Amino acid sequence: MLNSKIAGIGHYVPEKVVTNNDLTSVMDTSDEWIQERTGIKQRRYADKHKETTTTLGAAAARIAIERAGITAEDVDFIIFATLSPDYYFPGCGVLLQRELGITKTEIGALDIRNQCSGFIYGLSIADQFVKTGMYKNILLVGAEMHSMGLDFSTKGRNVTVIFGDGAGAAVIQPTEEKDKGVLTTKLHSDGTYAEKLAFISPGSHGGYHAEKLGLEDRFGFDKDIEFGEIFATQKMMDDRQLYPEMEGQFVFKLAVTKFPEVINEALTEVNLKSDAIDMLIPHQANLRISQFVAKRMGLSQDKVFNNIQKYGNTTAASIPIALCEAWEAGKIKEGDLVCLAAFGSGFTWGSALIRW
Ligand code: UT7
Repeated sequence: MLNSKIAGIGHYVPEKVVTNNDLTSVMDTSDEWIQERTGIKQRRYADKHKETTTTLGAAAARIAIERAGITAEDVDFIIFATLSPDYYFPGCGVLLQRELGITKTEIGALDIRNQCSGFIYGLSIADQFVKTGMYKNILLVGAEMHSMGLDFSTKGRNVTVIFGDGAGAAVIQPTEEKDKGVLTTKLHSDGTYAEKLAFISPGSHGGYHAEKLGLEDRFGFDKDIEFGEIFATQKMMDDRQLYPEMEGQFVFKLAVTKFPEVINEALTEVNLKSDAIDMLIPHQANLRISQFVAKRMGLSQDKVFNNIQKYGNTTAASIPIALCEAWEAGKIKEGDLVCLAAFGSGFTWGSALIRW
C-alpha cells in the first residue's frame, strides 16, 4: 500500500486585525482578561461583503495547489472542514470547486463537520483514499468565518473573544517512500457532552435534546416553535439564542487530558516516544492548553508551535494555518516527525503523526 504525504500547504487570513482592545468597545471585557486566560492578543475578521468561508479556503487552496506543483484541474477529491459554512446547504466543498474554476465532474466533494478536529479527521479520510489508490490529489481545506456568527454582546463574551477567521489547505498525494508521509491517524468521539460546546440553533431539534437532558434553562428554547420555523424563531433571535455556547472550564479540563492521551496513542502505534517529536502542532484552542500539553509531554517550547496570539481560535483552520506558518518559518524540515493533535466540540478529538 502507498503512503500519503502532504505535497503542498497554504494558508490565508483576512486583512482586518481586531485587537482585544477593539472588542472592549462592544462588550464588557479587557485585554488583560483575554491575554491572561487564553494568550490571544488579536484575531482577524473577514470582509463580510467580499469574503466567505469558501473564498478564504480558496485563497489558502491556491497556494497549497501551487506548492504541490499541480493545477486546480488535477484535484480529484475535495474535503472541506468547517463549522461556519457559507450556506446551510450545499456545503463548501462544491462552492470551493466552483471558486477554483474546477469544471470537470470526475471529482468528489465532501464536507465534514468535526469542528476543531476537522483537519485531522479530513487528513485521516484523505490518507485512506490515497492508500487504496482511489485518489491522487486530494485537496483538504479547513476554513472558518466565525465573525458572522458570534454574539458581540457581553452575554457572548466567553466565546466571542476567542474566535477568529482564517483558512488553511493541504494537497495530499501518494508517496512510494515507505517511511515518509502520514504514519498514523487516531480518531475519537464522545457524544455524551455534545451540548458543552455547541451552536445548537438554528437547527431541526425543536428542543428535543434539551428537554431530555434538562437543559432548557440554558438554551431557552421557544416552546411555540412551528413547522416552517424549525431553524429559528423571532423569539430565539430576540433572546439572543442563535449563538455558540461553551462551558469553558469543562471543555478545558477534558482537553488537557485528551490531548496527551491521543498523542501518546499515536506514538505507541508507531513504536515511538514523545522525545521523537520534532514539532507538535496543537489545535489552537487556548495557549494555556498548549503549554499544559507541552509540559505533560515533556516537550520544550521550541518543539510546540503556537500562533493563537495572532489569530485566536480558528477551529478547523487552526492546525493547517499553524502547520503552514511553522513550515514557512523553516521550523519543519524534511525527515522531521510532525505531530498534529486536536480536541473540540462533539466532543471529537484526534492526532496524526507525519514523517515530513
Ligand atoms: O476549540 C475548542 C475547544 N475549546 C477549548 O478548549 C476552550 C477551553 N476553555 C477555555 O479556554 C477557558 O475555559 C475560557 C478561556 C473559555 C474561559 O476561561 P476560564 O478561566 O475558564 O473562565 P470562566 O468561564 O470560568 O469565567 C471566569 C469569569 C466569569 O466571571 P465570574 O463569574 O467569575 O464573575 C466570567 O463571566 O470570567 C468572566 N468572563 C470574562 N470576563 C472578561 C468570561 N469571559 C470573559 C471575557 N472578559 N471575555
